[in-house]
Amino acid sequence: MEKKIILTGDRPTGKLHLGHYVGSLKNRVKLQNSGLYESYIMIADQQALTDNARDPEKIRNSLIQVALDYLAVGIDPVKSTILVQSQIPELAELTVHYLNIVTVARIERNPTVKEEIRQKEFGKSIPAGFFIYPVSQAADITAFKASVVPVGEDQLPMIEQTREIVRSFNTIYGKEVLVEPNVMLPDSTCARLPGTDGKAKMSKSIGNCIYLSDEPDVVKKKVMSMFTDPNHLRVEDPGEVENNPVFIYLDAFGEDKETINEMKEHYKRGGLGDVKVKKYLNEVLQAQLEPIRNRRKEFEKDIPAVYKMLKDGSAKAREVASSTLREVREAIGIEYFE
Ligand code: TRP
Repeated sequence: MEKKIILTGDRPTGKLHLGHYVGSLKNRVKLQNSGLYESYIMIADQQALTDNARDPEKIRNSLIQVALDYLAVGIDPVKSTILVQSQIPELAELTVHYLNIVTVARIERNPTVKEEIRQKEFGKSIPAGFFIYPVSQAADITAFKASVVPVGEDQLPMIEQTREIVRSFNTIYGKEVLVEPNVMLPDSTCARLPGTDGKAKMSKSIGNCIYLSDEPDVVKKKVMSMFTDPNHLRVEDPGEVENNPVFIYLDAFGEDKETINEMKEHYKRGGLGDVKVKKYLNEVLQAQLEPIRNRRKEFEKDIPAVYKMLKDGSAKAREVASSTLREVREAIGIEYFE
């Protein structure tokens, strides 16, 4: 059976945190080890630069951090191809070709981009590269002819836009050159982990994250100061477990469902204090994070080897992207000298 091609990616703007872990990393490792897919995992540094052009240092530093986090959680470069977007110039050329078949109005309608423009407070100063990043993301996906893209819900508009570009391209140039990708949404009930402050999302800019590489004492401190049910003032008060980050984390990370259910009942009845729940959550997290942190420390000992892994992965990916680009140029009819 032919293996389906998967492509996923992350912008390297910092270390990866628990939100990335439950929302995608864990699933990537599972998909990788299933043997059913050929996986490409892209560190999208070029996309990260679209709103960090004046701070390339941040992106350069984050690149190696993200690579270490990947290796630490069990992404295996023998089974998955880890690649660096900027090292594959074919992606930039594909983007240029796709830009000609996309309208400005269509890009303006992309809800995720709209939301980001609002959040980042660009006003009238939206970098043009940022504005068109969904088109560059379509290049990322189609270059590898990926048919499956496992992403969070916020990326749905990107995949929809990619599908439109694929259909337009194949129709205009009369050849089935490009492959329409499908989204694979995370199946976990906790696809989006709230921050330790109870805000909807773990986000570096808000500072409510627990990082995969956090030391044990840091994890403990963050857990012990987590937001819980604000109306659960005294131990004997009945508390709420829904929308309570401590229990959401337990659902996402705890393996002993029976104990967790008992704790939930106790908390709802009253008589179970936040400190007890947090201590238990701390144990659960420490047990899961320890092997990840230890593996990371091993890989940190040989950073040149990690760069070499990225270089090899990028070279392998470049061959695939370059073959797709050739087909695209042929379809458009600009391979004049072949
Ligand atoms: N936009 C994605 C994010 O912000 C990162 C990304 C870049 C990506 N290229 C991709 C995701 C291709 C999936 C496929 O997380």
